[in-house]
Amino acid sequence: MKTETKPTEVTAILKPDSRRSFLKNAPLAFTALAGIVGFSAKANSAATCEATARQARGPFYPIVNQADKDTDLTTVQGRTGQATGAIVWVEGTVRDTACSVVPGALVEIWQACASGKYDHPNDPNTAPLDPDFQYWGRAVTDASGHYRFKTILPGAYPADQNWVRPPHIHFRIMKRGYHELITQMYFKGEALNADDLILKSLSASEQKSVIVDFVRTATGESAGVFDIQIKSVSPA
Ligand SMILES: [Fe+2]
Repeated sequence: MKTETKPTEVTAILKPDSRRSFLKNAPLAFTALAGIVGFSAKANSAATCEATARQARGPFYPIVNQADKDTDLTTVQGRTGQATGAIVWVEGTVRDTACSVVPGALVEIWQACASGKYDHPNDPNTAPLDPDFQYWGRAVTDASGHYRFKTILPGAYPADQNWVRPPHIHFRIMKRGYHELITQMYFKGEALNADDLILKSLSASEQKSVIVDFVRTATGESAGVFDIQIKSVSPA
């Protein structure tokens, strides 16, 4: 199913709300954590700014609206619980293929919860849903092209009888004037990466660009940088 994000939706997510208060504080906290662990937002910036590899959208792109669609997927508006699973921070910079940062880009992510289940009516996985997990979220890149999400390590799940998908996060990046990019991000060190049919379909350099090395923060969470390059619709 092809869905387009309307300008009004982008405007809506730019409006401040109370749940975003953590974001106002998170960058400072995250920066401090990053300093402790020697983590740099430019750690894996692409030297050449080649466009990030496109990958299959998959069958579980969110089709049901949810009130809570912010950048913290570890809690759900109106609930007091915390999502099950290891907390991971994913941040990065969106650039074009000329290496210029792209502010104002809409970055959507969606993923399975810790059990490997998507909140999607077509997911046949019998694993339980996590009511405290926000299965998808949105960010808008700031003036530096930067985005950040707080989420959990997704569970692996069976794609068919002989194929188990490794933990991964789906990404969709959109901005007027640029080609929409749909891709997936993986976690370095996951054994299932080696046999994943989607990941293996990429070239070695493309695989390297979508497999992120997460580092442990001082608080026991993990943080990784996934920089993304998108193509302008205009010739460079
Ligand atoms: Fe998936």
